[in-house]
Amino acid sequence: MAGGTIVLTSGAKEHPGKMTLFVFLTCLVASSGGLIFGYDIGISGGVTSMDSFLSRFFPSVYRQQMADSSTNQYCKFDSQLLTLFTSSLYVAALISSFLASTVTRVFGRKWSMFAGGITFLLGSAINGAAVNVLMLILGRVLLGIGIGFANQSVPLYLSEMAPAKLRGMLNIGFQLMITIGIFAANLINYGTASIEGGWGWRVSLGLAAVPAVIITVGSLVLPDTPNSLIERGYDEEAKAMLRKIRRTEDIQAEYGDLVAASAEAKSIDHPWSNILQRRYRPQLCMAILIPSFQQLTGINVIMFYAPVLFKTIGFGSEASLASAVISGIVNVFATFVSIATVDKLGRRKLFLQGGTQMLVSQLLVGTLIALKFGTSGVATDMSTNYASIIVLFICFYVAAFAWSWGPLGWLVPSEIFPLEIRSAGQSITVSVNMLFTFIIAQVFLTALCHLKFGLFYFFAGWVVIMTVFVALFLPETKNVPIEEIVLVWKKHWFWGKFISDDDIHVGNLEVAKHTIEAA
Ligand code: BGC
Repeated sequence: MAGGTIVLTSGAKEHPGKMTLFVFLTCLVASSGGLIFGYDIGISGGVTSMDSFLSRFFPSVYRQQMADSSTNQYCKFDSQLLTLFTSSLYVAALISSFLASTVTRVFGRKWSMFAGGITFLLGSAINGAAVNVLMLILGRVLLGIGIGFANQSVPLYLSEMAPAKLRGMLNIGFQLMITIGIFAANLINYGTASIEGGWGWRVSLGLAAVPAVIITVGSLVLPDTPNSLIERGYDEEAKAMLRKIRRTEDIQAEYGDLVAASAEAKSIDHPWSNILQRRYRPQLCMAILIPSFQQLTGINVIMFYAPVLFKTIGFGSEASLASAVISGIVNVFATFVSIATVDKLGRRKLFLQGGTQMLVSQLLVGTLIALKFGTSGVATDMSTNYASIIVLFICFYVAAFAWSWGPLGWLVPSEIFPLEIRSAGQSITVSVNMLFTFIIAQVFLTALCHLKFGLFYFFAGWVVIMTVFVALFLPETKNVPIEEIVLVWKKHWFWGKFISDDDIHVGNLEVAKHTIEAA
């Protein structure tokens, strides 16, 4: 750590101040960023399963999927252009999140959210009015840029506004907004698919403007965070803001910590080379592996392509969209399980339980599909009951993800980085997540065509790997203050080797040890 020890004298947990209505409302507006992200995840699959949309923009896919069930069902949606419609958004998000991190630091969180909202608004307008594939993809790219900005600034904003002890809960609140966004998209697709005249998809795509307006207008009235004000030299404004959001005059200790933290961050010339030092190896590995694993659960196969997948297994259009609504609602409710248990049961138990449940469900879904479609992909008559059982197991799988890898895939990386590598670590996590989201979105329909039901076994294999990984390598982080996290790594049977005694410079080691032993 450059410049020696940073001692957070009072410990982040002990700063006075409760959750105020003001903070609650600002956080609510800011988390509409999660809504935008979720809406986009959920909307494209439903739209691409609508005949009017397919026949207009992707006529060859439309002809393929209209062919009768004597053709290979696994391949009926296989088109790189069609997947590009979904995946282009994530490449744009990946690239723009680097630019967004500078804007967020130099101009503040709120202007970054504003930039995200405006770009997003433009993207939804272009998509809703699209007359050709180019407009569709251009719209998706603009949405992606918006998401890059929102995903960079909103989580930061939330954790800086929230009192420390509510940080974990608010972090999962962002994930909850993502799931609500996905669900809203599923529901809207279900409603618009039946609009006469075949222009329902325009409504689906155009309605993305609603969360975009909330965040655009909202960001104009949102105050900037104390951290960001200090970072940009507005010390008096920062103090006033702290008094306002904590509703107490007693802000000196927290203010002191923020100033120290900001000075610390500024004193580091090369945060990117910092994170490459040996002692940060555990965090660097987690920053890369956790988001990769989160995507390799295969969740976005369901989130992006559920309606397409349900159509593949033999449902009609309406039943497919209805099934997506069901898995969407399971996703929202199961997230509450995580909110309620994450600080009591701990992260590891949720990961291990969720992983096991996902594994069993994936093996069952793969096998049920194999029994019906075999390797030829030609359906033997599939009864509605049979297809409904598949949907049921998909819901088991979604629920398990929603209380494990969904929220924890974001929460755990956000709480394991010490201050001096936090921004670099967070950027790596976001970018790796977007990269893998892109890859899965782009290759899924082709992979389904080639791997067939084996695709479910493929993801099940990854779930085994990640669950064993968690069991062996991920220490428990529940209730451990971030500034004391280094001791958790030091005590770990494997990661301990990377951390020397000199690397530990926590303010009060005894207290810290005590906290960790009690956790
Ligand atoms: C993941 C998304 C996923 C969503 C599902 C998020 O945590 O990052 O890729 O679609 O959860 O709820």
